[in-house]
Amino acid sequence: MERRLHAELSEVLGGRVPTLFDLKNLKYTLQVLNESMRLYPPAWEIGRESIGSDKLDGYDIPANSTVILSSYVTHRHPDFWDNPEGFDPERFSPLGSAGRPQYAYFPFGGGPRTCIGNNFALMEAQLVIADVAQRYRLELVPGHLVEPQPMITLRPRNGIFMTLRSRS
Ligand code: HEM
Repeated sequence: MERRLHAELSEVLGGRVPTLFDLKNLKYTLQVLNESMRLYPPAWEIGRESIGSDKLDGYDIPANSTVILSSYVTHRHPDFWDNPEGFDPERFSPLGSAGRPQYAYFPFGGGPRTCIGNNFALMEAQLVIADVAQRYRLELVPGHLVEPQPMITLRPRNGIFMTLRSRS
């Protein structure tokens, strides 16, 4: 996977700083980003208040209750994902995504309140991954435990300590 990312970056950028015009050619980079947000969605839960009673998939929702939708849980649901805990950017290739229900993956929410920064955030992250990963290999410091901390956003409790090695 890392090799494939590096191969794409060499082919598309060849050492140049990435620009907006490169985004459409950095397809695997985007798949890596999407897969990262599948396992660790920054907005790991969103909530809604019910204004009236309702029934959802057989569950009674009383009026004035809070309904939590967790992308973290849905993104790892075995009904939608093979080997849900495994990191595999291939899930987000056109072939890998075929037939998956739309809301099996919702890092930016959905419907009328969907994130208005969605495309900006993707664009920015794709550029940052491309620029950093073409210059460095990043390795987790051995023994460092990466533990998710579910606050308003999902964050690493003890940070993520990495060693950067120049690729040039
Ligand atoms: C990786 C980055 C981001 C993630 C994962 C994310 C996630 C989300 C999610 C899940 C929602 C829906 C909340 C809900 O339905 O209750 C949301 C809403 C929103 N986001 Fe983002 N967001 C990101 C970046 C941004 C950026 C960069 C901006 C602005 C430049 C932004 C602005 C907003 C706004 C204004 C809303 C509220 C939209 C509304 O209620 O009509 N977000 N975001």
